[in-house]
Formats: sequence, C-alpha cells, structure tokens
Amino acid sequence: MELLDVLKTRRSCRKFTDRRVSDEQLDHLVETATLAPSARNLQPWAFALEKDAARIDALSEAVRAEVQARAETDPGLEPYRELIAKPTFNFFHHAPALILVYGDTRADYWMSDAAMAAFHVQLRAHDLGLGTLWVGFARNTLDSPVYRTRYNIPDPYRIVAPLAVGYPLRTEPRTMARNAPVIFYRGLNDAS
Ligand SMILES: Cc1cc2nc3c(=O)[nH]c(=O)nc-3n(C[C@H](O)[C@H](O)[C@H](O)COP(=O)(O)O)c2cc1C
Repeated sequence: MELLDVLKTRRSCRKFTDRRVSDEQLDHLVETATLAPSARNLQPWAFALEKDAARIDALSEAVRAEVQARAETDPGLEPYRELIAKPTFNFFHHAPALILVYGDTRADYWMSDAAMAAFHVQLRAHDLGLGTLWVGFARNTLDSPVYRTRYNIPDPYRIVAPLAVGYPLRTEPRTMARNAPVIFYRGLNDAS
C-alpha cells in the first residue's frame, strides 16, 4: 500500500478471526518495530510475544480484576464500568497473538521511543492485512511482578504498548473522523 493509504485506512481492530499469525510474521513485525527512530539512536525497546490463547484469556481476566479495582476510586473509569463487567468482554478481543513492547527506562525518551516502535508494528501489520489494537488497559497488569516474571522482563524495562495482533474480521477500509489540526503558530514566510 502507499504510505498515505496505510495511514488513512489503519483502524484499531476489535474483531479478529481465529486464524493464527505465523512466527515469521510476528518476527517480521518486531523487526519492523526496530526501524523506528529513537533519541540518540538508543533503541531502548524490547519485546515479548504471547501466542497461547488460554494465557491471553487469563491475562484479560487479570486486567479485568485490576481495572475493576481501580474503577472503584477512579472516576475516569466510570464510562467503562459496564463494559468491563460483562463476563464475555475480553480486553484483547480474542486476538491470537500479543506483541508486548517494553521500554528501557534508562533512556531519557524510553516511552516515546518504544511508542514509535509500537506504531511501526501497527502500520506494518495493517499493510500486511493484519489488525492490531493497543490495549492500554493492560499496562498495570503487565507491569505486575507475576507478568514481569512470566515474560522475563529485566528491572529497567517497563511495558509501553500491549498490542493485540491478528487477522481482522472486517477488512474493508473504514475511515474515522479526526479533529482538524490545531495550529498555534504558522510562521512567516521569509519575504513577508
Ligand atoms: C496509548 C493507547 C492506549 C489505548 N488503549 C486502548 C484500550 O485499552 N482498549 C481499546 O479498545 N483501545 C485502546 N486504544 C485504541 C484507541 O481507542 C484508538 O486508537 C482510538 O480510538 C482511535 O481509533 P483508531 O485507532 O481506529 O484510529 C488505545 C490507543 C492508544 C494509542
């Protein structure tokens, strides 16, 4: 696809088919992530791949418990209470794979650098006909000791982007309205 088409037609995917994503494709997506720019070219990112449906479901349940506990005191979570209380709700929408993108906190720009790497995954996945969803809700759970141990995450690394990856059930491009850009300053041409 042309880059502009990729940018215009990528949408978060919340309906996946059962089709597995191959190890080659996952490796390719991770390779693509490493093409991202980073401050001082430190490349402060690392990855964990989860492909086990039962483990992804169990992670979703752990996320539910964490978010529900937080929702008791955080009014910002009010709009999500009903949705996440539904027993059938799965935070990863039954995607067959997760690409977890971590950032090395020793780098000044770890979060932005790892976020750019994650977005590379999202764009390339879309280019290949795959769908992705960045599941921010999973952040605290993935940073908990249980999941840090499970995925061999060394001390200085923190989760930045839990990405669900799979084949989208709906493949036609959808567009989503975006706000017009807010431009605070337009500058002056040299000649003005
Ligand atoms: C940092 C971040 C966290 C997000 N967390 C979630 C999430 O937990 N669950 C979800 O369904 N979507 C999540 N999203 C997806 C956004 O809702 C989505 O990108 C936004 O609504 C724009 O839609 P689009 O991606 O289709 O353009 C997240 C996106 C970002 C960038």
